[in-house]
Amino acid sequence: MKISHITGPTNLSGEVKISGSKNAALPILLVSILSQEPIELHNIPLLRDILNAIKILIKLGVKIEINKRIYLDTKKIEICTIPKKITKTIRASIWILGPLLARFGYAKISFPGGCKIGHRKIDLHIFGLTQLGANITICDNHITGSVIGKLKGANIKLSKISVGATITIMSAATLAIGNTIILNAACEPEIVDVANFLNSLGAKITGAGSRKIIIQGVTKLHGGTYKIISDRIETGTFLIAAAISNGNIICYNTQPEMLTYLLKKLIQTGAKINIGNDWINLNMTNINPTGTDIITSPYPGFPTDMQAPFTLLNLISNGISIVTETIFENRFIHIPELKKMGAKAIIKNNSVICYGVKQLNSAKIIALDLRGSASLILAGCIADGDTILKNSDLITRGYENFYKKLRKIGAKIKNK
Ligand code: EPZ
Repeated sequence: MKISHITGPTNLSGEVKISGSKNAALPILLVSILSQEPIELHNIPLLRDILNAIKILIKLGVKIEINKRIYLDTKKIEICTIPKKITKTIRASIWILGPLLARFGYAKISFPGGCKIGHRKIDLHIFGLTQLGANITICDNHITGSVIGKLKGANIKLSKISVGATITIMSAATLAIGNTIILNAACEPEIVDVANFLNSLGAKITGAGSRKIIIQGVTKLHGGTYKIISDRIETGTFLIAAAISNGNIICYNTQPEMLTYLLKKLIQTGAKINIGNDWINLNMTNINPTGTDIITSPYPGFPTDMQAPFTLLNLISNGISIVTETIFENRFIHIPELKKMGAKAIIKNNSVICYGVKQLNSAKIIALDLRGSASLILAGCIADGDTILKNSDLITRGYENFYKKLRKIGAKIKNK
């Protein structure tokens, strides 16, 4: 377990270049095997979850070259089985199932891993693939799927909005015979990016970004070059870094239109926001933030991935505010750690009541999930004294060069 020493309080101000989106790059890498021709991907963030997704591709036989860009040669895939030691590292490993079934008619993978933020079932992925004609059995933590002939288009209504299941069905249906309609689809920007990527290879997907996606099956995809969108959650995390520290920050290489709801909430806290085509400036100089209620919900609502950093902002803001988490059942695991630092919070069912305090103090804390760990690192930056954060390399799963970028804007962090 790595340990970080964070010395505060610091003012976090300056410029940050935002990386490519983790949650778009992961599915894009995995669904790339739907094509058998060369693919070149730009703006891929080189973080741990991405490297684990690359290990899945290498296990299948995909040839990969990383050189700022990522080059994929997916022509020769000899294996359709992924063992537990690889799948357990990331939730995203489930996204290889649909493309394998669509291209080869067979797949055997172990259950996906990922942060322990809730039950994280896979029933909707299985339901969708079954509707497309796959035969799926689950036994001893293994998911085995087969298809007689090819997948067949279907009308699929999801009983719950799921980013993961929407991607599974959309990608598998790309090579199915006939048309597929997904109703009650998730409309996160990452889904639009996956659809745009597949369309750039010759897929026929319309409606991504709405609750109804239509996929006209095609017989094959060609190769191509594609640039991944920027990471809206990384952008939001750095905006909050400035918001909690009376800072003034410019995040560039970002896409402000993907953060509309978060920006609206930040303005309610008192932040001054300016935006350009590809940058966002948040200025909190001489402003004490005001606690602001949030309720997480599927896009275009408040993103669950921003809940942990925003809760921290509320915990050091004026007044009492309520944060309600509606997507995952166990996404407050950072709260007991923040309480060790003097935060005043009460968890009631799926809400946290935040009683703002003026100053956090240093403490010995532990990072337990990705977004919670971002919130704890930021808390360390504004707490008085030396905070010792255990398991501090958890952040490298989902943020590219997080510590380096934070140091550049004024954080004092030593990693051991
Ligand atoms: C994706 O997870 C993201 N992960 C998550 O980001 C993000 O929090 C989440 O979408 C919501 O935006 C990646 O992109 C790798 P879901 P995913 O399917 O696909 C339930 C981060 O920190 N559900 O939309 O797993 C599920 O339990 C990560 O970057 C079922 O019941 O999320 C949850 O309660 C964490 N059955 C809800 O739906 C299913 O088959 C939404 O999950 C699938 C999901």
